[in-house]
Amino acid sequence: MAGKVVLVVGGGGREHALCMGLSDSRHVSKLHCTPGNAGTASLATNHSVSASDITGLLRLAQEVSADLVVAGPEAPLCAGLADELSAQGIPCFGPVAALAHLEGSKLHAKEVMRAANVPTAAFHVLEHGSDIDTALNDFSGQPWVVKRDVLAGGKGVVVTEDRAEAFSFIQSSIESDGRVLLEEFLPGEEASMLVVMDGSGFVCLPASQDHKRAYDGDNGPNTGGMGAYCPAPVVTNEIRDLTIQTIIEPMHAYLCAAEQPYRGVLYVGLMIPESGRPNVVEFNVRFGDPECQITLPLIESDLFELLNAAATDGLSKLEVKFSALHAATVVLAAEGYPSSPVKGRTVRGADSEPLSSSNGKAWVSHAGTGRGPNGELISTGGRVLACSATGPTLEAAVEMAYALLDTIELEGSHHRTDIGFRAL
Ligand code: AMP
Ligand code: GLY
Repeated sequence: MAGKVVLVVGGGGREHALCMGLSDSRHVSKLHCTPGNAGTASLATNHSVSASDITGLLRLAQEVSADLVVAGPEAPLCAGLADELSAQGIPCFGPVAALAHLEGSKLHAKEVMRAANVPTAAFHVLEHGSDIDTALNDFSGQPWVVKRDVLAGGKGVVVTEDRAEAFSFIQSSIESDGRVLLEEFLPGEEASMLVVMDGSGFVCLPASQDHKRAYDGDNGPNTGGMGAYCPAPVVTNEIRDLTIQTIIEPMHAYLCAAEQPYRGVLYVGLMIPESGRPNVVEFNVRFGDPECQITLPLIESDLFELLNAAATDGLSKLEVKFSALHAATVVLAAEGYPSSPVKGRTVRGADSEPLSSSNGKAWVSHAGTGRGPNGELISTGGRVLACSATGPTLEAAVEMAYALLDTIELEGSHHRTDIGFRAL
């Protein structure tokens, strides 16, 4: 199977992690990435086609004779990238648009979960301003959870104890989108399960935990994710088995009954209450970012074999091995992230070789990075890079990641200093 050409779509930390994993594959002879970042540029040929330009992506896949296209973000999948590639006979890791709609519409996801009897929070769909007060009364006594029914790039959910704030977010969402979801608040601890699936079967990757709030102690605004670790001990073997039984198996059955089965990774956002019976908070149709950066390094098997199998319904024939190590990643964010990140600043110290010691290894996962006129590394996004590490324990991995982060300079940047605190 040697000599495979792979095109990775996207340009964040997730796509750098995918390029790292694929460049270690014995099957891959050529990697392409679009639009990529300064990190992917050292492993792949970067192209300038945007991840939302479906026609451009299809043309690029044909031009480079891609044997496999790996979709990083959800937007091209919701816009039909996998459908177009399939019509041309090019395998795609990532589901067709009808199934990607699971992430594209929170209401659709709720309807699917109801039909498949998958545990999730109760909810109201609101379309008229006159219904808001009654619905808010229904879920009073706990924070209100309001979710816009559109792809909102992580900005579509408000969790608040302030009734006026909930009211006005519901009202403005009805005005802009025509409807909005009000959900019952679920108490508990969150975890992410990434499940690679196809028509023949599924493979659960080790569970991880993200840190979505901007500041230490889970304070501050929601972000795309400020750091993560894997495996997450909150997902005990018992909870993992329950998750498979009550969530993954019914979802797999539903997603594979479609004309074209789900081929890609299903991100299952879990809320685990003290009772231990997991609920679904959200589905995404892609790898999480930054969960991807610390989950892929724990897969010992060849990454191309795994992604290619999922794209071609070969998963049931594949045996996937995992490492016993722990992994952690800490995101370095630009000044002003998440509301208004400052871009275009020089990043120093991030071009160094990975750190390696008897206690583990640490490397830079690039996200919003590019090159300035003199080849210097510059910031181009809100989440600029992450320092990722593996080690024999979570403590060791966290320590290595922070040791590497200490060597990197970016004016005004911020990061969390407590990644992994729930497990440590
Ligand atoms: P989502 O985009 O649906 O993942 O929501 C963003 C964040 O809001 C989640 O990661 C949770 O922290 C929180 N959240 C969403 N739904 C609920 C819920 N029903 N109960 C409690 N927290 C929630
Ligand atoms: N880190 C959360 C996400 O990728 O949606």
